[in-house]
Parts: sequence; structure tokens; C-alpha cells
Amino acid sequence: MRIAGIRLRNPVILAAGTCGHLDEMADVLDLPRVGAIVTKSITRLPREGNPTWRILECRGGMLNAIGLANPGLDSFVSHVAPRIAGVPCPVIGSVAGFSIDDYVQVAAAMDEIDALAGVELNVSCPNVHGGTEFGSDPAALSDLVAKVRPVLSRKPMIVKLSPIAAGLPTIVDIARAAITPAAAARSGGASPSGGPDGRPGADALSISNTIPAMAIDVESRRPRLANTTGGLSGPALHPVAVRLVHLVYTQVAKDAGIQVIGVGGVSTWRDAAEFILAGATAVQVGTALFADPRCPIRIAKGLKNWTLRQHVSSIEELAGSVSLA
Ligand SMILES: Cc1cc2nc3c(=O)[nH]c(=O)nc-3n(C[C@H](O)[C@H](O)[C@H](O)COP(=O)(O)O)c2cc1C
Repeated sequence: MRIAGIRLRNPVILAAGTCGHLDEMADVLDLPRVGAIVTKSITRLPREGNPTWRILECRGGMLNAIGLANPGLDSFVSHVAPRIAGVPCPVIGSVAGFSIDDYVQVAAAMDEIDALAGVELNVSCPNVHGGTEFGSDPAALSDLVAKVRPVLSRKPMIVKLSPIAAGLPTIVDIARAAITPAAAARSGGASPSGGPDGRPGADALSISNTIPAMAIDVESRRPRLANTTGGLSGPALHPVAVRLVHLVYTQVAKDAGIQVIGVGGVSTWRDAAEFILAGATAVQVGTALFADPRCPIRIAKGLKNWTLRQHVSSIEELAGSVSLA
């Protein structure tokens, strides 16, 4: 199967920031048996992230306020990039930033790394100041995508949307901005500087990221995270994300021919199958890896059996096929 033109062995992808920087899961997980890995989000400069505690378990999932801790672009290029070719599944580079220039610089450097299969723009980190700015404002996202697209001339571009854009403007407006950025809209069609498939914006959308949340220690009466707030991931997020995938698929992605990757609370093949029926073609697994690092293999196997029981030859045929009648 393919997502944004990237050939995957199966539709189960390891989500950014939950599986190390690159292939650290290899000791516990047979990497040739996962669809792909998304790297930790990389910023232009190295980041220490937020002080601890910055990750904790809560009922229904996990709160994290990692704050985009990462080694920065130079270190990624010199120490991580040379190892990508040896990873036995496709690797998608995740890009984060605080300005358009940041994203452009990191994306341009990733475009040069032959072994990278694609790039995911993280415009949805709730744990840093300004981290969701691009993901919650259609005009800002449109501008960002229009500036990043030309420097990603060799790689498919996935845009990872924020669930908090679910208010006003809606996530559908945000998705539209990611698919058809303003510059292309103004010129009335595909930009001459589109990606490998000539699209003016995203080749696929990841929906979505964590939801801003908070936990309080009732004895000390202090927030449990040093950052006060963090992002909720895991099972509690799943039904929220299924709805967002359904909205974006039915209202914009389907007609635009853009694939959706469902992200949020997948720990069983049934969770993944729900995302597929809502409109996703692949899923990402994050928090569930902390409890069972081998679960992606179980999920991929369950999806394959489900596809056979549904009497279709490929999972793509099931994407968006929820029956609303
Ligand atoms: C500890 C931790 C670190 C994360 N770091 C990143 C990151 O660097 N970039 C990113 O796009 N998402 C990051 N995420 C969000 C996940 O990729 C995923 O979107 C989210 O956790 C929802 O999926 P899940 O419920 O399967 O975990 C992180 C999540 C966790 C729990």
C-alpha cells in the first residue's frame, strides 16, 4: 500500500516522539514489520524541552509536556541522517518550528536526505509557546505550507493537524489551508513549485496530535507537570480523533484526493479499523508503545484479518466506508 506515495508494508506507523529519535525501538520491535517510523520532531536549534516532571500516566492515557526536546537540525543531519538508510522500514522526518523560516530550513535539509521517505510537518505541538499557532489559523498555515512546499521538491509532505482547531475555525478550514495554500489558491491551481506529485500543498494529513490538558496533585495542590499543562494522548483521545478524521475526510480530503492518517489512542486493531472506516488510509501508534512496544505488529495482523473478513483486496477500499444510513 502507499500513503502520500510512500510504499508501506502495512498501514501501522510509529508516531512522532513516541519511539525515540529513529530506530531505538529495534531492540524490542521487529521494524521490518511496521509500516513506517516518524522521527522525533526536529527543530532548527537543539532544545532541552521542559523541566520534569514532563510525562505522566493519567486515567485513559498519558499527559506529556516534553516541549519538543530534540538534538536540533545540525546534529540530526550529522548523527541521525547517516543511519536512516540502515533502518528496515520507511522513515518519515518530522519538522517543527516557531517561524516559517525555521520550518523552511529544517524541511530543506530533510529534502536533501536521500534515505528519508517523506516529511511530516508538526504544526500542532501544544507544549511549547506558539506550537499550535500554525495549526489553528488557516491563514498562517496556508502561508507556511506555501513557503515549505517549494523546498520539499523531492519528498511527499504530510501535515499533522491539531485537534484544538476543532473550534472556530474548524479543522476542515485548517485542512483546506494545508491542502491548498494561499499562494496556489491565488494563482488558481497547482503551484509550479509543487512536490513530487505536483500538489500545491500537503500530500497527506495526519489527524491529529495531543489535546491540551492538566493534572493536579490534590495533596500538594500543585500541578503534576512542571509545565503546569501538557498534551493528553492515549485511549481517551481516540473517539475525538475518529470524529476529526471523519469530518476532514468527508468534507475536504475525499474530494481533494488527499489521504488521511489517523492518530490518537490506537492500541488495538479495532481502534485502527475505526480510523480506516472514518476515512483514514493508515494509522499512527504512539502512547500504546509505552505499554506494549510490540503492539504495532499485533495491530497490523488484526487489520489484515479484518480486511479479509470484509472481503476486500486492500485496506484502501475500506477507507471512509462507515455506513451512516
Ligand atoms: C511522549 C510523547 C512525545 C511526543 N512527541 C511528539 C513530537 O515530537 N512530534 C509530534 O508531532 N508529536 C509528538 N507526540 C504526539 C504523538 O505523535 C501522537 O500524535 C499523540 O500522542 C496521539 O497518539 P497516541 O494517542 O497514539 O499517543 C508525542 C506524544 C507523546 C506521548
